[in-house]
Amino acid sequence: MFSPFNKSGNREEDDKLFLELASSFITSEDGLTTILANLSALLKWYLDDVSWIGFYLFDGEKLRLGPFQGLPACTEIKIGKGVCGTAFKENRTLIVSDVSTFPSHIACSATTKSEIVVPFSLGVLDADSDLLNRFDNLDADLLEAVVHMLDEER
Ligand code: SME
Repeated sequence: MFSPFNKSGNREEDDKLFLELASSFITSEDGLTTILANLSALLKWYLDDVSWIGFYLFDGEKLRLGPFQGLPACTEIKIGKGVCGTAFKENRTLIVSDVSTFPSHIACSATTKSEIVVPFSLGVLDADSDLLNRFDNLDADLLEAVVHMLDEER
């Protein structure tokens, strides 16, 4: 059974508890789809003001939609295109405070205003918000820690 913890509002403390909880879902007993599905759900529960969060996985050619939480989204993204394809190609986290300023942004939802994309060995972890400037370096640290745990487990 999933037992959420009570968020204190102190991001450092809460993020530490979150990562402990997330690590318990990354187990060799579960397959990749199962783990990514649960992590998406956990992240959607934890992060405030996030409209969509999930994974795009590299199939050797493109990024393909993987497990996520939110409304239906674009199913494939070319490498180097959009925030996702750019973050994956450049192998660096991208925080876009206003998606309208990102030239190749792919709008899966008309309401999305800001976005963060974190690349890892399998693809990217992508989060969207309907608020401008929703994501900061602490969010980047948290999401990078999540994908780092995934990379370590493999
Ligand atoms: N906005 C992304 C596409 C994926 S959706 O946000 C779920 C991009 O520009 O790559």
